[in-house]
Amino acid sequence: MKRSQKILIYCIGLLIGLQFVPLSERKIDKVPDNQSFSQIEGLDKDQLILLKNACYDCHSYETTYPWYAQVAPVSIWINGHIKGGRQKLNFSTWQQYDSEKQKHKLRESAEEIRDGHMPPKSFAFMHSGAKMTDQQKEALASWLESL
Ligand code: HEC
Repeated sequence: MKRSQKILIYCIGLLIGLQFVPLSERKIDKVPDNQSFSQIEGLDKDQLILLKNACYDCHSYETTYPWYAQVAPVSIWINGHIKGGRQKLNFSTWQQYDSEKQKHKLRESAEEIRDGHMPPKSFAFMHSGAKMTDQQKEALASWLESL
């Protein structure tokens, strides 16, 4: 067998093997009931949709995975983002935070949106629903601060 063929077979084997790497964030035993941010009554629907599109994939248990997010090594990379995101802020368990922490997270979120740090650029690039104009960013940020 030629050296190049061996390398190819090795790479394919590696890619297949990577598909079996466990993804910690895929297994969600039970999403707590009635603790989600979205269940707060009277929220502005348009802002909530934007928040869901731009933030929920990493900051809640309501993650939707596009096909490329199912395939390693991308899936492993994305799993890391989701893990880090959920640890810092989880809208699915929002009502477990005390009111002071909620205020803090809302202010922090507004700041991250204004600074353009959240959603991460790579995410907005791949998710058209998460792309925001400056006006939308400002509207979302002020809305979060007003809650
Ligand atoms: C692709 C995944 C992803 C998306 C989408 C995302 N985040 Fe994050 N977020 C992270 C990760 C990972 C961290 C933790 C590491 C960091 O601070 O960069 C984080 C951290 C944060 C923090 C905490 C910052 C800190 O210093 O403690 C806030 C607040 C936040 N995100 C808000 C948001 C908001 C609001 C949105 C939507 C507009 C959003 N994020 C979208 C992945 C994401």
